[in-house]
Amino acid sequence: MSLVPEIVFASGNRNKYIEIKKRLEKSGVQLLFGPDVLGGNLNVVEDGSTYLENAYKKALVWANETGLPSVADDSGLEVKALDWRPGIYSSRVAESDPSRIEWLLAQMANVEDRTARFVAALALVLPDGKQCWIVEGFCWGKIEHEPRGSCGFGYDPVFVPEGFEKTFAELGPDVKLRISHRSVAVEGLSNMLNCSYMVKSLLASSR
Ligand code: IMP
Repeated sequence: MSLVPEIVFASGNRNKYIEIKKRLEKSGVQLLFGPDVLGGNLNVVEDGSTYLENAYKKALVWANETGLPSVADDSGLEVKALDWRPGIYSSRVAESDPSRIEWLLAQMANVEDRTARFVAALALVLPDGKQCWIVEGFCWGKIEHEPRGSCGFGYDPVFVPEGFEKTFAELGPDVKLRISHRSVAVEGLSNMLNCSYMVKSLLASSR
């Protein structure tokens, strides 16, 4: 049994893995990249009705396959004037990042209230499926009228976080790492692990 709990990151996205790994290591757990553990990726259909359901489903499939505690994320953009759409469908409204932005700006052509938020859910699941810890992080801001900047991905070129004048795509990775929805969610999980010796020993013994 490893003294440092090992947790599998349930995704094939290495950039997200690297971002999350650094933060969780400070809480005394080792994050393993799912495809490295299994020797390949797993495609899990994201058919839940909430971010948490999708994150839980992905984490459970990877935990079953690897026999290790697994953590998965799911995220999206919510726009107040669109009844909080596209939400869990954020990646499915069009085929590419530029066409998704085009879709969003067309939906918001006559909208004055540009309030929006990014949401990220994380689910950490034990391999026996009997316990799950979940956390959500939010990043509030507003949607610009046209894209600006070249960093990041997805809706970053049209999202201006609260307290800033520039889009995430203009602000770059340092600011995003500090304030993003994913960072807030990882911070929440990390705080929980820091505070809970019990959870860490459960993770270390559950393989
Ligand atoms: P997933 O959680 O990787 O499946 O992301 C869902 C979709 O939400 C992405 O394809 C993006 O369209 C959008 N999204 C989630 N997080 C971000 C972000 O940090 N910046 C920009 N778009 C994001």
